[in-house]
Amino acid sequence: MIREVLTYPNPKLRTLSQNVMEFDESLHTLLDDMYETMMHKNGVGLAAIQIGIALNILVINPVNEDGEQKKEDLLEVINPQIIESEGVIVFQEGCLSVPNVYEDVERFKKIKVKFFDRFGNEHVETYEDFMAVALQHEIDHLRGHLFVEKLTYLKRKKFEKEWKKREKEKSR
Ligand code: CO
Repeated sequence: MIREVLTYPNPKLRTLSQNVMEFDESLHTLLDDMYETMMHKNGVGLAAIQIGIALNILVINPVNEDGEQKKEDLLEVINPQIIESEGVIVFQEGCLSVPNVYEDVERFKKIKVKFFDRFGNEHVETYEDFMAVALQHEIDHLRGHLFVEKLTYLKRKKFEKEWKKREKEKSR
């Protein structure tokens, strides 16, 4: 089922998500809904809080070298913990909760993450470049943060000004 995606500045996006305790049918339904919603919105990643569910769950489905987004590349991540990080990468990010805003953000280039899959199996994997960036972006959501908070002061001010203008035009 496609769910509604919350957008900035909805205060719910600032919620601190909690760990998943039961790897049951309702978790599987939620993961399936998150995948469907992400694809429907043409996204490459989604955190549960973006559909209003404050649980440590995220999905990422990268676009491959042929420009295709295949379900076999879907990564489902539950209760993630970054246990190692190194290097720096600057990458242009966007977010389904902050539509039509794309800005450069600095992140770790490489991270080692401990997480669980939908069946409760533990994994420890290392990710680099796009996948590392996407994971850090989604893990930030689980902690109540949006990528626009990481912009430089001037860019942040510019973003807030443009956003207000856009909201005003919408309500007209
Ligand atoms: Co996002």
